[in-house]
Amino acid sequence: MSVEDEKRLAAHAAAEMVRDGMRVGLGTGTTVAYLLAALSRLRPRVVYVATSPGTEHSARSLGLMVEPFDTLDFLDLAIDGADQALESGWLIKGGGGAHTREKIAAASAERFVVIGDSTKLVDELRAPVPLELHAFGVAATLRRLAPSSLRDVDLSPDGGVIADYLGEITDPQALNARLSMTPGVVEHGIFSPRLTSEILIAKGATVHRLDIGAT
Ligand code: A5P
Repeated sequence: MSVEDEKRLAAHAAAEMVRDGMRVGLGTGTTVAYLLAALSRLRPRVVYVATSPGTEHSARSLGLMVEPFDTLDFLDLAIDGADQALESGWLIKGGGGAHTREKIAAASAERFVVIGDSTKLVDELRAPVPLELHAFGVAATLRRLAPSSLRDVDLSPDGGVIADYLGEITDPQALNARLSMTPGVVEHGIFSPRLTSEILIAKGATVHRLDIGAT
């Protein structure tokens, strides 16, 4: 089985969790692309919110009903990929620069389900850790977060500057706290286990379900 087959399998398992009447957050990335395809085949009667313009566009073109995430104040389920995942539930996300909206969707959902191929499950989190920064004072913020560097990509849809923290991650919890407390950081790509309900990792033809437990 290829990595793409594994992504498809994990995405399909998550799509089967979607029930009629739910409000569902859609993540961003290549694994989520398989989720969108599966949902367009299964056609549950649900309302979706999208965490990036790319996901919104793809979902709409597949006939999924996407609403803005402004008046909805709660999601039943959010489903998203990850760049790296520990069995304990710590994640790194934001390879596509969408981690701020992804974290908002995850935090707003009763259940946040992470999907990935077998390469995503790691023993240790490693840099880069994606950052979204305020443009005001960005050079000074980066200096305080050394080693870190700007990513050569567009601003986020919310006007944030995308960058990466490049230092060692000896303690995800300590780095999570440090990044969250740094003025100028809009959001960062470390996701704590408190956000995640389950991680579905496909290895070969089997989807392994890690119960992280956040509700
Ligand atoms: C987008 O900003 C990211 O958080 C993605 O969810 C993550 O990078 C996983 O992407 P892939 O499914 O493309 O590996």
